[in-house]
Amino acid sequence: MSVRVWMNGAIYDAESARVSVFDRGFLYGDSIYEVMRTSGGEPVDLKAHLGRLVRSGEAIALPVPSEDTLREAIRDTLAQSPSDESYLRVIITRGSGELGLDPDLAGEPTTLVIARPLRLPPAELYERGASIRIVGVQRTPRRAFDPAVKSGNYLNNIMALAEAKRRGANEAIMCDAEGRIAEGASSNVFVVRGGGLVTPGLEIGLLAGITRERVLELARAAGVPCREGTLTPDDVRGADEVFITSSIRGVLPIGEVDGTRKPAPGPITSQIMERYATYLQQMTS
Ligand SMILES: Cc1ncc(COP(=O)(O)O)c(C=O)c1O
Repeated sequence: MSVRVWMNGAIYDAESARVSVFDRGFLYGDSIYEVMRTSGGEPVDLKAHLGRLVRSGEAIALPVPSEDTLREAIRDTLAQSPSDESYLRVIITRGSGELGLDPDLAGEPTTLVIARPLRLPPAELYERGASIRIVGVQRTPRRAFDPAVKSGNYLNNIMALAEAKRRGANEAIMCDAEGRIAEGASSNVFVVRGGGLVTPGLEIGLLAGITRERVLELARAAGVPCREGTLTPDDVRGADEVFITSSIRGVLPIGEVDGTRKPAPGPITSQIMERYATYLQQMTS
């Protein structure tokens, strides 16, 4: 079996890993998580992911195990995984207890690490570009629940993705209540305009993607102008190039926005894809 699950200190295979039906992660999405990939067998940007996990935990008053404990859990899980490269998911739920929303009903948190073989999107999406739809489902406002918290409550994103798929696209792009572009269902979005990158600013209410941050750093180092700001749907539809980022997809070019074709990958996107690929390779050398 190629899936390994570390749960509260023990490692299981996919069939024997079990969480209680009274676990609040299962009942209410009362949990936080991180997803990352390995490169050369090492988790990519592990420090940044664990840092965001801690911030998510602080935001919902959920204690996160120490960095050493989590690093050891990840190392032990990977050591028992047969695949060369893995998809890694670290989950902390508030644990199980009496039924009821009150977080004080929870017992001890449940900590899990899931490792499975890494599966990337099909090569043709990188060669010709994926498609996106700017959907009607609005991103949760920060004052309702801050999208910067990577919680297990993903229905907002699931509904957005379902709408995009119904309309024939690979990924959904959500706007905030003012109609400003926020982010993808599970990605951050960048446009290329006048030779520079623009991506929505964090104040709009979105996940501070680890890949987003890395891409901004790599682009600046390459001398590509970068700006975090406000984008409208028309800015995305009318952009010279568009790409999305996430820990599993890396940098994925967009070849179609709401039915309008885009060059994919365009010249700047290609440059960023190369820089990111080199970054992943350098981790292994
Ligand atoms: C809502 C959302 N935005 C952005 C991202 C991209 O974040 P990262 O680059 O840290 O994977 C994700 C990743 O799953 C996400 O779920």
